[in-house]
Amino acid sequence: MDHQAMFHNKLVSMEQALNQVKTGDHIVVAMAGAEPQGFMSLLHTCAPRVSDVVVSTCLNMQNYPFFVDSAMKGHFINEGWFYNLGMRKAQAQQTVSFIPNNLHFAGSKRLAHRKPNIFVGTCTAPDRHGYVSLSLSLTYEQEMIENADLVILEVNANMPRTLGDSAVHVSSVDFFVEHTMPLPELPVTETSDKDRRIGAYIAELVEDGSTIQLGIGGIPNAVAQGLMSKKDLGIHTEMFTDGMVDLYRAGVITNRRKTLHRGKMVATFALGTKKLYDFINDNLAVALMRGCYVNDPYVIGQNYKMVSINTTLEIDLTGQCCSESIGHTQFSGTGGQADTAIGAQLSPGGKSVIALYSTAKNDSISKIVPLLTPGAVVSLQRNDVDYVVTEYGVAQLRGTSVRERVSRLIGIAHPKFRDQLREQAEQLQLW
Ligand code: COA
Repeated sequence: MDHQAMFHNKLVSMEQALNQVKTGDHIVVAMAGAEPQGFMSLLHTCAPRVSDVVVSTCLNMQNYPFFVDSAMKGHFINEGWFYNLGMRKAQAQQTVSFIPNNLHFAGSKRLAHRKPNIFVGTCTAPDRHGYVSLSLSLTYEQEMIENADLVILEVNANMPRTLGDSAVHVSSVDFFVEHTMPLPELPVTETSDKDRRIGAYIAELVEDGSTIQLGIGGIPNAVAQGLMSKKDLGIHTEMFTDGMVDLYRAGVITNRRKTLHRGKMVATFALGTKKLYDFINDNLAVALMRGCYVNDPYVIGQNYKMVSINTTLEIDLTGQCCSESIGHTQFSGTGGQADTAIGAQLSPGGKSVIALYSTAKNDSISKIVPLLTPGAVVSLQRNDVDYVVTEYGVAQLRGTSVRERVSRLIGIAHPKFRDQLREQAEQLQLW
């Protein structure tokens, strides 16, 4: 059968796709921009006939009724690798639960726990060779397609055709559902004076010819603007961002001096604005590859002068970073923070940077604290923290003692908290 006929034979309505869901199923969905929003928006309509359905998700783009509505308890549970606002709110009603993970193991460990009955993702229309592109995420999607009993893909005509490892042949898919909709976009945030100061400190750490990774959050995106004077940078990153497009167009990113995948920007998912989606469409300079490969610290470490740049919510005076919870309340996820921080330090000449504002909530609290808030999740253990940057400077922690760390971290805390931090460190005998 020719590819087009095969594709058309597999086209079903959304209702037919939803009819595949049964009691006790484990459904895994594609993440973030690749999330099957049509399917997920209507999943709750199956509730009258199903119970105990586990849905594994990552970085939801919407607050879907199947977990936001408390009446869904017992019908569905959204088990997430990375929380969003809706999941944070749903925690109290027990329709969500967090999956602790380091991103490069997210897919394989979940598969070891439980294989999916159904994988639901998104894709482009098939090309003339019968391949669709998984487009905006390859974090764990290919492994799930290879292991699920049933594969359903929503075809969205707006999705960019990304290259790399994103191709799936129509013969590997059970059902396609046409569902064209605008792609989710991350709002562009204004760069503040604090961001510019942090960006300038980081720029001093990034040497020409380095390969960089920028994490999720406001600061890493702002950092891209601080790198505009650099030469011959390369990209090996979990998340491909708008800032990287700007750096590429400005001639800063050439990928010429990369030691792994020279000439190509490597990422595992892309999330940003239409500018980014247009840029990665059919772009041979960008290779999307599986998260288990891109985020493997040993792979990251093969890049010469690899610099990872991530952010955190709270750091204690010994260097432990809580980047995913506020106290015991899950806020986001570990994602690739530990993967990339460790990987960068395996790289010859590599550096790992945690960049954060010194305070939160209008300077009312210090993000540098003597002890983490009770219940805070340690996303990056202190053994793996290298450089810490705030708007007040750079603290290099690699190889330092606790005594030295306390002094260096207080040196980059907000001045109004420094005396208090010294007194608390003294009381706790942090030396
Ligand atoms: N105590 C209490 N609240 C705090 C806080 C603290 N120490 N630090 C920050 N907050 C609040 C902020 O005020 C903000 O609240 P608001 O939304 O009411 O304004 C909120 O927490 C989020 O802080 P913000 O600094 O705006 O977060 P962000 O969007 O820049 O994201 C992380 C920062 C750390 C949550 C995000 O980067 C993350 O999830 N990282 C882990 C994953 C990762 O690094 N992956 C790397 C590879 S992509």
